[in-house]
Amino acid sequence: LALVFIGFMGSGKSTAAAAAAARLGVSALDSDRVLEEQLGHSIATEFQLHGEAAFRNREEGTVCALLDGADPLAVIALGGGSVLSARVRAALKGHLVVLLEVEPALAWQRAQDSQRPLARDREQFFALHQQRRGLYEEIADVTVLWARAASGEYPVLVGRGLLGARQWLDALWPVDRSASRGFFISDETVAALHPPAALGTADPPGAAPALVTIAPGERHKTLASAQHVWKWLVLHGATRADHLVALGGGVVGDLAGFCAATYQRGVPVVQLPTTVVAQVDSAYGGKTGVDLPQAKNYVGVYHQPAGVLVDPDVLRTLPPREANAGWVEVLKTALIAGGELWERVAADEPLDEQTILACARTKLAVVAEDERDGGRRQVLNLGHTVGHAIETATTYTCYRHGEAIGLGLLAALRLSELPELRAQVYELLRAHGLPLRLESAGVDEVVRMTRRDKKRTGASVPFVLLRAPGDVEIGCRVEDGALRAAVAELL
Ligand SMILES: NC(=O)c1ccc[n+]([C@@H]2O[C@H](COP(=O)([O-])OP(=O)(O)OC[C@H]3O[C@@H](n4cnc5c(N)ncnc54)[C@H](O)[C@@H]3O)[C@@H](O)[C@H]2O)c1
Repeated sequence: LALVFIGFMGSGKSTAAAAAAARLGVSALDSDRVLEEQLGHSIATEFQLHGEAAFRNREEGTVCALLDGADPLAVIALGGGSVLSARVRAALKGHLVVLLEVEPALAWQRAQDSQRPLARDREQFFALHQQRRGLYEEIADVTVLWARAASGEYPVLVGRGLLGARQWLDALWPVDRSASRGFFISDETVAALHPPAALGTADPPGAAPALVTIAPGERHKTLASAQHVWKWLVLHGATRADHLVALGGGVVGDLAGFCAATYQRGVPVVQLPTTVVAQVDSAYGGKTGVDLPQAKNYVGVYHQPAGVLVDPDVLRTLPPREANAGWVEVLKTALIAGGELWERVAADEPLDEQTILACARTKLAVVAEDERDGGRRQVLNLGHTVGHAIETATTYTCYRHGEAIGLGLLAALRLSELPELRAQVYELLRAHGLPLRLESAGVDEVVRMTRRDKKRTGASVPFVLLRAPGDVEIGCRVEDGALRAAVAELL
């Protein structure tokens, strides 16, 4: 079984393979270089002398031989077009195939001055990127997105079984685990279902990573829990060279991120999200923090993760109510993104890897533009002003976060004057068994709580409204009467 990197020209396969191989103490193989050695000249020359078809023939033989004869723990970077061959795709079976996703503009920037024969014309290059995308996605076991924010860049790896691929974890871990110890933070439920012992380093073998747990649930996203974690880190001698690992849902992710941002003024944190909310939303973007008794997420800092490892398989143990509540964040993201993602969600397609990836891309693109909520990032708060107010008004005991946001989305769509879309969203919420009515809180309390919203800048709270799926407006003024009516409609 080998670790095989695939992707378009300029996606960084050779660099990633070399880095992964170095972690494992082996040398990476690069199929293009192997082929050039066999040919005795460059690939560009081969194209000139014999054309693309002849080149692909030779390439197929070389790549299949590399894959079939790969040593255990081999790391291989494949030429971008080699997976066009059905024989190569068959030979990839059984290996761990990692796709490095790259924006076509960035790939072009990297590839245009190279000797690559297929990087001569910008338009053709972009067309080829589009054409190969689906094929790469189909073959990949793990997809790597590269997240960019003003304060840092980090990899996001998404793949079924990723956390079970123990022999590759050291190579794929966002931090070099031979130099930095990982201190795991989880909640009692998650730690029991997905024991971190299975995620330890290969060296020393079998050693269980240090783990601290909190009791599960929003009620424990507090400064008291943060203090518990800080003390535990001191007790276990965690230093700035080490890193924290958040294994859990949004509560653990926000809390562990906050502890990482503040412990010794900042250590890296790797996010291992285990809920739908965390996999499609909260693990990305660097917002960390805890709740105060008076209001949610009132104390926190921005601290981008060192990386995010997403294994959709861990969602299998989620209780259905939790999974459905989390699905509301998928719905919210789809309303913000519009396009293909909205179509999938509107058709109520099951949550799969591609949907998780699409949600992650949407959130990462928003954060790349505006890390600190100065403008664009506020789109992510669609449905959250009323949703958070409902959570606070019901003292976090009545609704799961996602359930409250579902009601918040209905209010936001009413305020957006989109009755048809509201009805469509209502039906989707119903199909997922989500609450459609506000109980245990009245209009007055909810409206009062919206005034405590962190987004408030002056006398009024700016709302996020929608013109259509994919077309979001931030900073909207909403009259008190309209807000009361939108909340009253939920009763
Ligand atoms: N930082 C951000 O950008 C951001 C964005 C959205 C939400 N959030 C925060 O996320 C939190 C909500 O996250 P959440 O919904 O993941 O809640 P959560 O972390 O409380 O998890 C929900 C429940 O599911 C359990 N659980 C987790 N993974 C499981 C698994 N694989 N199998 C079985 N049970 C599992 C947990 O023990 C918990 O009881 C809120 O505090 C919200 O403010 C943050």
